[in-house]
Amino acid sequence: MKLGIFTDPHYCNKEITCVTRRSLLSYQKIKEAMEHFAKESVDAVICLGDLIDDCDSYEGNVKYALKLTELINGYRIPFYCLMGNHDHLDFTREDFARITGATPPFSIIMGDSLLVFLDCNHHDDGEPYSPKRADWTNSYLPKAQLDELERVLGEDKDKKAYIFSHQPLENTLEPVHTVRNGQAVRDIFKKAGNVMRAFAGHFHPGNEVTIDGVIYTTLPAMCEGEQNRYTIIEI
Ligand SMILES: [Fe+2]
Repeated sequence: MKLGIFTDPHYCNKEITCVTRRSLLSYQKIKEAMEHFAKESVDAVICLGDLIDDCDSYEGNVKYALKLTELINGYRIPFYCLMGNHDHLDFTREDFARITGATPPFSIIMGDSLLVFLDCNHHDDGEPYSPKRADWTNSYLPKAQLDELERVLGEDKDKKAYIFSHQPLENTLEPVHTVRNGQAVRDIFKKAGNVMRAFAGHFHPGNEVTIDGVIYTTLPAMCEGEQNRYTIIEI
């Protein structure tokens, strides 16, 4: 089973954002990634969030999100897209799901593997991110998802689990870049014993660390500089 993964395209109408982000180039970069994924016959494509950046208007953001959705759907490969903090600056969860049609369910079984998609776009007071309030330094996995995570991992103990989130769940990066209650999530992984690897974006340089036998891979952001970044994993 092969999965094509990319993160943080930050696509919008601006040539450069935040000094180093080449937002406009992301259309071509995603096209290039999708060509490669199609050639390698991946079973699904996953984006770990921050699909778009800010076009200064709701209509602009819809237009740019739709352009990417049309491009990706043209390859007829199942596509799942998590929201990132930037996607929340203008979109609610409902907007994003309607516009992209790519919001993943909480978990999917693919062959011998269990894929789990976590929505850490919450503040540590439990309130979900919204266009009115989305703080990139404050991410959190609410209790309902912790419980659901424990349940699905326990229910499918014979399956190898792979976890996907926008914000990293590990503890070797500066805390502003990671999920505040990451320890609670890692404790659940440890207890379950079937989690192989956790993928995230958000921290643009990327990182990789193993904690209690689980590999935490933070993929480098696609939008940084002119170089393209995406990966294929075999599970
Ligand atoms: Fe980002």
